[in-house]
Amino acid sequence: MTLSDFTKSSLEIAVTDEKVTRNTIIRAALTKKWMQFSDDAFFILDLNRIIDIVRRWQRNLPRVGLHYAVKCDSSPLILRALAALGCGFDVATRSEIDRTLIHVVNPGRLVYSNTCKSVSNILHAAQHNVRLTVFDSADELLKLKTYHPTAQLMVRLRYNNPHVDAKGQMHGRFGVYEATAKSLIQKAWDLGLNVVGVAFHVGVGVNGEATAHIGAIEKAKELFEFAQNNVRPFSILDIGGGFRGDWSNARLTFEEFCHDLGSALDTHFPPASGVRLIAEPGQLIMTTAQSLFLPVIGVKTVKEEQRQPGYVLADGVYGACRPIDIFKPKLKMRVHPLDEPSFDVTEQPCQPSTLYGPTCSPEDIIAQDLALPTLSTGTWLEIQNMGSYAKELSSNFNGVPTASTVVCISEDDLHLLK
Ligand SMILES: Cc1ncc(COP(=O)(O)O)c(C=O)c1O
Repeated sequence: MTLSDFTKSSLEIAVTDEKVTRNTIIRAALTKKWMQFSDDAFFILDLNRIIDIVRRWQRNLPRVGLHYAVKCDSSPLILRALAALGCGFDVATRSEIDRTLIHVVNPGRLVYSNTCKSVSNILHAAQHNVRLTVFDSADELLKLKTYHPTAQLMVRLRYNNPHVDAKGQMHGRFGVYEATAKSLIQKAWDLGLNVVGVAFHVGVGVNGEATAHIGAIEKAKELFEFAQNNVRPFSILDIGGGFRGDWSNARLTFEEFCHDLGSALDTHFPPASGVRLIAEPGQLIMTTAQSLFLPVIGVKTVKEEQRQPGYVLADGVYGACRPIDIFKPKLKMRVHPLDEPSFDVTEQPCQPSTLYGPTCSPEDIIAQDLALPTLSTGTWLEIQNMGSYAKELSSNFNGVPTASTVVCISEDDLHLLK
């Protein structure tokens, strides 16, 4: 399909090559919006970035199998491309199992990484031969014993990541510390269940260094030794997600991070151990792959005494902007005026401003006291790094449409979608 086809039709896949870049496609998409008087939000999904980070992982950590966390964004084209690149998937529900098995025939490429599964979900996994899963309670073991007795189980280890706050540590909701883990493993053995290893997740938003993952790997090693001492050796280590999404301002490069992580894995779980290593990244794969484009649909004055501008955007906290609140990333924004070149918000004089969503809820506030240049109705704002969880969390509250997506993929990699 050519770019001119794309601008004329409603098709949403745009093929990039040397001449047609992501920027060309953004310009074409905005021109189409302007011509059609369309002011609904949309995403640009750059599959090239997803393909690039997966290949870099596979080059730098060839022993660690990628199982993409489907909850991060379950769009079919993303799942299809990742399946074609050889990835497995981390699923959390029966619906994610179904969506994923459309793209991979082998259920052995799935890890069902929800520690508390309903009976109907467990039965669904058993029916579809999805066997690898996790537990962190005796109650879960009893359900698995009854409804999925041939499951392969990993105990979910809790790790106190010193680099993030309680929210980043998932409020301590998942996993158990070593002592409880050992008694749960023993319980599983007593029930005749098959415990194959250990899983952990160091939490959301680690700082780009491998220290948290390495700390958790060392704790996991203790549980492998416990199993070995009981003559029931483990065979799988799942190092979870929690990898940085945007590496542009990180202290380490992605390659340096992989080097540190890979060295720790080689020390504690050398190839000769035969232990299968897997990871479940979400943000790493998705964060920078997607930008959200939002037109300013109205301008007003807020905090009247300070005459602070407020901009109402076409989507807000009930739509794709909720993760801004959840993960508090540093917002990276570009402004796309109608007749002038686009620019980063930091390139122009700015003043404290408020960004509102379009609904009638007083809580539909995307950001306050945010430094922004003067904007006007009809100007498009691009919020970058919106690839993770944004689409999955969107609702249609107040009838606001969910943002559509324009997908970019290079001609060379188009075959991955076939
Ligand atoms: C069990 C599990 N694995 C993987 C992920 C993906 O984590 P991230 O997006 O931080 O890589 C999550 C996210 O909540 C999770 O709960």
